[in-house]
Amino acid sequence: PESVAATPSKNFKEIGAVAQLDKDGVLVSSDKQIAVIRDPKNKDSLLAVNPTCTHKGCTVLWKADKKAYVCPCHDAEFAPDGAVLEKPAKKPLPTYTAKIDKGQVVVST
Ligand code: FES
Repeated sequence: PESVAATPSKNFKEIGAVAQLDKDGVLVSSDKQIAVIRDPKNKDSLLAVNPTCTHKGCTVLWKADKKAYVCPCHDAEFAPDGAVLEKPAKKPLPTYTAKIDKGQVVVST
């Protein structure tokens, strides 16, 4: 039997295993529309963004050493929460709600 959800049901979809996230430092959905990391300031919480650069649409890459997403095209940088750190991007990356459910990383878009 299904249990009744305590919160209004949002559509969470599985992105990958927590073990994979912890191995790679980042999880990217197969369609490259969602990237998930652990919050560098609070490893218990997850942060999810759309990794499509808001400059011209390249896919940004998470750089754990810089604690930033870096765009391979024109070097824009974004914070873990999607905020712009470096030009030429001007708009932040869209963010999503991410959480862990039974060993899986799930994201609501
Ligand atoms: Fe990302 Fe230009 S497309 S900086």
